[in-house]
Amino acid sequence: MNRLRIVPLDDTIVFPGMPVTLPVDVGPDERVLLVPRRDNTYASVGVVADVSERLRVSGRGLAVSLMGVHRASLGGASADHDGVLRVDYEARPDATPATSLTRELEREYRAVVDEILELRGDDGRIRAFVRSITDAGALADTAGYSPDLNFGQKLQLLETFDVVERLKLAVQFQRERLAELQVRKRIRDDVEDGAQKQQREYFLRRQMDAIRKELGEHDGSIADEYREKIASAGMPDPVRQQADRELDRFERMGDSNAESAMIRTYLDWLMAVPWAKRSDERLDPVHARGILDADHEGLDDVKRRITEYLAVRKLRTERGMKEHRRSGVILTLIGPPGTGKTSIGESIARATGRQFVRMSLGGVRDEAEIRGHRRTYIGALPGRLVRALRDAGTMNPVIMLDEVDKIGADWRGDPSAALLEVLDPAQNHAFRDHYLDVELDLSQVLFVATANVADTIPAALFDRMEVIRFDGYTTDEKVAIARGHLWPRQVERNGLRAEEVTIVDAELRRVVTDYTREAGVRQLERELGTLLRKTATRIASASQTAPIAIDRAAVIDALGRAKFVHEAAVRTAVAGVATGLAVTGVGGDVLFVEAASMPGKGALVLTGQLGDVMKESARIALTYVKSHATELGIDQGALEGREVHVHVPAGAIPKDGPSAGITMVTAIASLLTGRPVKATVGMTGEVTLQGRVLPIGGLKQKVLAAHAAGLTEVIVPERNGPDLDDVPSDVRDHMQFHLVGSVDQVLALALDDKELALAA
Ligand SMILES: Nc1ncnc2c1ncn2[C@@H]1O[C@H](COP(=O)(O)OP(=O)(O)OP(=O)(O)O)[C@@H](O)[C@H]1O
Ligand SMILES: [Mg+2]
Repeated sequence: MNRLRIVPLDDTIVFPGMPVTLPVDVGPDERVLLVPRRDNTYASVGVVADVSERLRVSGRGLAVSLMGVHRASLGGASADHDGVLRVDYEARPDATPATSLTRELEREYRAVVDEILELRGDDGRIRAFVRSITDAGALADTAGYSPDLNFGQKLQLLETFDVVERLKLAVQFQRERLAELQVRKRIRDDVEDGAQKQQREYFLRRQMDAIRKELGEHDGSIADEYREKIASAGMPDPVRQQADRELDRFERMGDSNAESAMIRTYLDWLMAVPWAKRSDERLDPVHARGILDADHEGLDDVKRRITEYLAVRKLRTERGMKEHRRSGVILTLIGPPGTGKTSIGESIARATGRQFVRMSLGGVRDEAEIRGHRRTYIGALPGRLVRALRDAGTMNPVIMLDEVDKIGADWRGDPSAALLEVLDPAQNHAFRDHYLDVELDLSQVLFVATANVADTIPAALFDRMEVIRFDGYTTDEKVAIARGHLWPRQVERNGLRAEEVTIVDAELRRVVTDYTREAGVRQLERELGTLLRKTATRIASASQTAPIAIDRAAVIDALGRAKFVHEAAVRTAVAGVATGLAVTGVGGDVLFVEAASMPGKGALVLTGQLGDVMKESARIALTYVKSHATELGIDQGALEGREVHVHVPAGAIPKDGPSAGITMVTAIASLLTGRPVKATVGMTGEVTLQGRVLPIGGLKQKVLAAHAAGLTEVIVPERNGPDLDDVPSDVRDHMQFHLVGSVDQVLALALDDKELALAA
């Protein structure tokens, strides 16, 4: 057993064949044992090393250069008499294994190390050194040079005496290193690639810009253009930030992929909103009234409400009172078609100096129509409000929400919910379109809604509306409208000059009464158009020379025979038919209730697409007549074994409501007494089983219809008396109104005294 001085190596390992210089004093010894030490524990294996040189390091004492010779396993250690720690050891030089066993491993090891050096960018020196080592054990020990192996791994190599095992271990460690290096390289390459691509793109883009500039196509890039536009759009700060964010995204992306096209569309929409543009509002009520009067005949109530609205606004602004969030009214114009609702909306815009846009809501069933689709949808677009603002070009236009009563709802959401937000003055200063996703201030917009009927407007919406009713025009009003507006417009449209063609009021009135039956004036305008087209043809073909005065013959020639005659006279000539008054979506109308009887089991047959309420009225009517048969002078035998059939033409149109009650009683009573109904009488009113007459709605429209149909007497429920004030005086003067409280009064007024043969 040999004994050698221990030289501890802290946290390092020296292999055989490895030179090392250490700042230690080894006395006169020529050989020492290098033993790795960690945390004050010595390894059980060391390396015998020869001292090749002794050095004196300036100021730090002695140092020695050592060269590892071979491994040694350690035995007991003790301090010598001279105080030096020495250890017993057994030399373990490498045994030479069979080359056949190691050849394969050597080749593998060299290959792996080669690759590592390749990745490391070795200049060839280390490779040459590795190649120069032919001994298998020494080859495995070169792994000890590797900076990437840790202390534990190196110690493991040192402790492996068997050369084959050691070589295997070395191959394994080096393979792990290689894998790690490869991953590292791949990541580095990827990063570099990306950076280079960006650089490349940048230069190409610069070149492209230069080429464009040369061609005079652009002074700057698309992004610069957007930047300028955004800067000058006067957007509120949050919107501007959003625009800038999108623009940055656009720039980063380059302008040639699908996503960037979407960003451009978005930016285009964002800039289509007239953020900073307002019309100078004109708040002069006198001027406004002038314009409203010039555009529309009549409609006093509407015009008064509009001027009042303007007057209030004017005062508030003049007196510096702040805009009251809750003060916004949503004027809602409700009435039959062709009564000027849409066109007065345009006049409001003109009178206040605002822009006008119409937004038709008929058939809108999707909330996204109002509010837009979120941008995550393919082909997403902003909603109608944003488009309306774009069309208006200002933030304070008049927006007409046309046909709010025809709005629908289904699984795609309820558009009225979105409208609610739009119309609510407390919310609409921060309206959020799904597509734009920024807040829009709609509080400057003057909303005007229109509808034909009130009952289909969603209740929550209706609640926020200030309703102005358009009940339709009287014949006189229609003549005035025709004279002042429709006639001049049609004359012009047909290429004629005002002095070339004339018509007297009496003839205009004939066109109104004989060729139209409507609450509004659309049909009337169409008929006048036809009339003037014929006239224009005659002048153009020189078959007649101007000026032409349109007379009765010309009217009949152009429009044919009268389309409407005094129907009531014909229809009520037989017993069992009574003239009722109704309100439909197109205004007031007369309807004839027909009753007939035939042999049967006493049942009641109802036809004419009657709704439930109307059917019940018919049953009440029959019960009332049966139970008062004696007072009414009805022969008991007349009802025995017979059933009554009640029909309300036109059969194809659905009808409902209780207001035909007294008409049904009258028709049945007329049938069973054989007394026909007076041809000049129209009636409306709900009936109870006790024979009381209850009030109904829409009286003005009904009276106008009765007048237009040529009736002169109208039976009205007592409690509707005050409503007669709404009826225009020229109509009131021509008609007689009977206010009634009970059915017997109705029958006394409506039935002819003269009895006819039972019309069954
Ligand atoms: N009082 C009036 N004075 C002058 N012109 C009128 C008047 N009332 C209606 N008109 C004209 O009648 C035409 C039809 O009116 P408009 O389109 O406004 O009807 P509307 O009430 O909106 O009908 P709808 O309910 O069918 O939409 C318009 O050309 C309008 O100028
Ligand atoms: Mg309209």
